[in-house]
Amino acid sequence: MIIIANWKAYVEDIGKAKELFTVSKKLAKDTGNGIVLAPPAPLLGILAAKNASSVAFGAQDISATTGGAETGEITAQTYAAAGATYAIVGHSERRARGDTDTLVSEKLRHALAHGLTPVLCIGEHSRDTDGRYLSFIREELTTAISPLTPRERGKIVLAYEPLWAIGKTASEAIAADDLAEMTLYIKKVLAEIFSGKSSARIPVLYGGSVEPDNVRALAELAGIDGFLVGHASVDPRLFALLVKQLA
Ligand code: 13P
Repeated sequence: MIIIANWKAYVEDIGKAKELFTVSKKLAKDTGNGIVLAPPAPLLGILAAKNASSVAFGAQDISATTGGAETGEITAQTYAAAGATYAIVGHSERRARGDTDTLVSEKLRHALAHGLTPVLCIGEHSRDTDGRYLSFIREELTTAISPLTPRERGKIVLAYEPLWAIGKTASEAIAADDLAEMTLYIKKVLAEIFSGKSSARIPVLYGGSVEPDNVRALAELAGIDGFLVGHASVDPRLFALLVKQLA
């Protein structure tokens, strides 16, 4: 299982960041799960500089530029130099601030060009009874991945994060059987995009109110390969409880 801890902007000081890093190192060792921490950029720089553990680091977003006169942008190359090996791309909270499908696709390319594994986020805003959300997911996935070469496509990780399930509680998150259905659908769309070749190797993660109370049921029933965790990843006690369920 891959567990990606998206700290968002919840963690703002180095003391808290170090505490979460220490807990994560122990959890990775004790449970054998792959843990990736995605802290705000300056904190990533500090923690990843001294990292000799199996815990990996990921950017929460990367720039679509490759450097130059771009005030405030942080490029894939900079993240790679700081010790990141993953990059979350197309998170709904970035899309809400203007990331289009085309921009997301460019970011995937930049991440891959600098050796970062991109974690492509997709997810519908809401569900309807005529299955329009399924077409939305197909479109989001196809637009982001189709411009990539087959070799590039084989290196991404996918995270299904329905917007309606983000930032809630376990009881309001997706039900395991609904997630199982969506996982199958995503794998079918991937197989079409890949023309059947090697798409089965693309890990599919789930994100959206993953907590200690629902993580095991989702892991057991939904056929997914890991989780992208928000609020429960910045509380050391909750995060430990959650990761231990997957041991
Ligand atoms: P929550 O776990 O807080 O719902 O956040 C999910 C998410 O957006 C992770 O990227």
